[in-house]
Formats: sequence, C-alpha cells, structure tokens
Amino acid sequence: MSRTPEQPLPARSSLVPPTRPSASAAELAAPPESDAGQAPGAASSEAETTRELLAEGGAHLLGNYRQAPVVFRRGEGSTLFDTTGKAYLDFAAGVAVNALGHAHPALVATIARQAAKLMHVSNYFYNEENVLLAAELAAKTGYPRVFFCNSGAEANEAAFKLVRRHYYAKGDAQRYTFLSFDHSFHGRTLATVTLTGNASYSEGFGPKLEGVVHLPFGDLDAVRAAMGPHVAGIFVEPVQGEGGVLPAPEGFLAGLRALADEHGALLVFDEVQTGIGRTGKLLGSEHDGVRADVVTLAKGLGGGFPIGAMLVREELASSLPPGTHGSTFGGNALASAAARTVLRVLEEEGLIAAAAEKGAKLSALLGELAARHPDLCSGERGRGLLRGVVLKPGIDARLALGLARERGLLLTIAGGTVLRFTPPLVVTEAELEEGVRRLDEALRALRVELAL
Ligand SMILES: Cc1ncc(COP(=O)(O)O)c(C=O)c1O
Repeated sequence: MSRTPEQPLPARSSLVPPTRPSASAAELAAPPESDAGQAPGAASSEAETTRELLAEGGAHLLGNYRQAPVVFRRGEGSTLFDTTGKAYLDFAAGVAVNALGHAHPALVATIARQAAKLMHVSNYFYNEENVLLAAELAAKTGYPRVFFCNSGAEANEAAFKLVRRHYYAKGDAQRYTFLSFDHSFHGRTLATVTLTGNASYSEGFGPKLEGVVHLPFGDLDAVRAAMGPHVAGIFVEPVQGEGGVLPAPEGFLAGLRALADEHGALLVFDEVQTGIGRTGKLLGSEHDGVRADVVTLAKGLGGGFPIGAMLVREELASSLPPGTHGSTFGGNALASAAARTVLRVLEEEGLIAAAAEKGAKLSALLGELAARHPDLCSGERGRGLLRGVVLKPGIDARLALGLARERGLLLTIAGGTVLRFTPPLVVTEAELEEGVRRLDEALRALRVELAL
C-alpha cells in the first residue's frame, strides 16, 4: 500500500494491540493465549492485518533489508507464530541470538523485574547488575576485564580501537595494521566493514579505513608472510558464520597465536556468533584450546536483549583509559540482568554440553539429508548448533529458503550457498528431526521448481 503524506494513517488500533497500563511481572510472564481455536472470521481479519502490516513495513521501513513477507507476533521456545497464527520452527533464532528460545520464563521474569527496578544509569556510575555480570563473565571465560556495548559491531569496533590505542600508548603508533580473512564478517560500522573480508559490504561508502589486509582463511603461510612490525592485530572468527559456516582448519588458531606472539601482535577472536555456547563450548575457541588477547561477544549473550562485550587480558585493561572510548547504553542494568540470566540458565539447564550433543545429532541428520539430495547438496558442516547444508553451485539458496519457510521452517543463508541452522540452544531432538524433515520436503519441492 503506498500512501501520499496527506492520506490519514490507518487507525493505529487496527494494527497495534493496546498495551495495558500496569501489567505485573507475573502477568507479563504468563503464557500468551493460544493461537488455535480462533473465532469465526478471525482468519480473514488476521490475513487483512498481515497485509496492512506488510504494506506499512514496505512503505516506512528504510528498505535496507530483504525482508520475507511474514510478520511475527510472538514466540515460545523454538516456535514463532506469525500474525495469521501460523507456527514456524525457528532455526534462525534471530541469527544465533535467541539462545534460550522465545519467551523463556526465567528471562521474561528477569527483564520484567529488572525493568521495574532499574534500567539505566549511564557509565558515570557503577550499576549492580553490570558489576556482577562482569565478574561472572571473567570467572567463566578467564578473561578478567570487560567492556560492554550493545552489538557485535560495537564490540569489534572497541577491539579495533583498543588494539591500535595499545600500541599508540606504547609509543608505537606506526603499528596499526590488522590482518583479517577473506569471507569473514565483523559488522557494519566503517571499521568493521573494513575488517570484513567481503568487499561488497564496504563498497560505496567512500575512502576505506587504512591498514587492513585480507588473507585466505586457514592459510598460515600467507599470515606468516604478512607479519611484521607494522601488524598490530589479527582478527579471526573461530567458525566463519556469515561467510558460510566454515570452521577454522585444525591448528589454524594455534598457528595464529604463535605468529602473533612471535611478532608482538595481538590476537582478537570475534566470537559474536560462536560465543555463549553456540558451538558446544562457552567460547568457540575452546575447541582449539587457544586463548586470544581480546574476545568479542554479542548475539547469544542477551538471549534477544541487545548487549555486546569485549573481554581482554589484564595487561590490556589500561589500553583504553578514561575518555578514549565509551557507550551511553553499554552495560546498562537491564541488558546486564538479561545476560546474567542467560548465563545462569545455560548452566542450570546444561545447555552448552547439550548443544554439542544436539549439534552431533543435527550434523548426522543433515549429512543424511545431503546424501538423499546429491543433486542439490554437497554436504553439511559446522560446529555444535552452528551448522549449514552446502548447496551445489547454481542451486538457488533463496528459493530453497522460501520453500522451507512455506513449510514452517526458518533458516538463514550464509555465504550465498549455505542454508544455515542456528536453532535456539533449548531446541529438542524431536524439533531438530521435524525441522530436517521440513527441509527435506522443501528440497523435494525445489527439485520440482527447478525442473531437475
Ligand atoms: C562474527 C560476527 N561478528 C560481528 C557481527 C556483527 O554483529 P551485530 O550485527 O550485532 O553488529 C556478526 C553478525 O552477524 C557476526 O556474525
């Protein structure tokens, strides 16, 4: 629906349910009404509401995303419900964000309780939840110092600045070059698109930031050849997520650690996607037994509430002295309380070890699926619950994604050719089986569409 500015806005009440003025925490935490058993005529009015919402979204959202024609209203565990009441298995989970699934009672209760207590005070002061979260992250990861922000890009931006400022403070301002890798993804700010190893993300935004060199992922010889006294830091994802769900080859992270040490450079692990249990360990780099100097986190840390973090070794704590970096919202009490609850629930429910087991199950299911469709798929790969089905060259991943969505399965595309699975860590084995069954159906339909 396109509307001229003179036309009245549609009655808001037709789109936005009224909010009750003073819902208690218990009311907020109560399960929402069922989507089943709608009154007669409800389905057509829901379809109309959905059409209106899609039209309004198309008219007023910026248009920088390629959004699927579906509008979500609520979620529960691994399931999302759209505005027509249709249920989907959500194996996108907000792109590896909703670690506890949707509406986890503990997270819902924490956010409601904390919102009623204290949301935000700024970083001119300490807040209790933030101090406790910093201490808990330090204890769990062994990295003793934390800077908080609101997203993965901000965490990486902080790391970029910390590394450069570290050498500047040591009187070595000429040491500012970063090495990062082809097909990496580090965010959408100017520094992080420059680090990102895909030129399309930084095209058209004017002169690029100087001092970033991209190398083939996994190629230690290339890294060795690029090292020198000008290299300040190496940025790497333990598993390249957006680039196509590519785990670092065995020995690669250890090799980077050795080269960084040999040349006096710093090693940064971007664990925005791999962190917080996604791969079956708290940090993805734990699989390799390698420690970085700086680790960045976001996505799963807040379970859907925005928060990012940069963890550093003690020696780097003084690299960003007061006044050199900051964030108004970073580390606010509400986000910190949410993250503390995510960490607690992951531990109490044993979800990180379970992610390794469920990941093995998913790997087996996807391997069988790929073998059943050898004309469409070349295999599966990943670590823990960050996995992908690799489509053969020329197979339209976007079409496959849409066919899966029609069958009630939400996935994302990584690296152009990979159907990526990042289900909530609370996903059940039965849900994994059902999701793979739906993808199987979608691939059969794809074969028909492509007339193969
Ligand atoms: C490895 C990695 N780093 C950074 C980012 C950017 O995070 P955000 O979108 O929260 O800024 C992402 C997002 O996909 C990511 O996967």
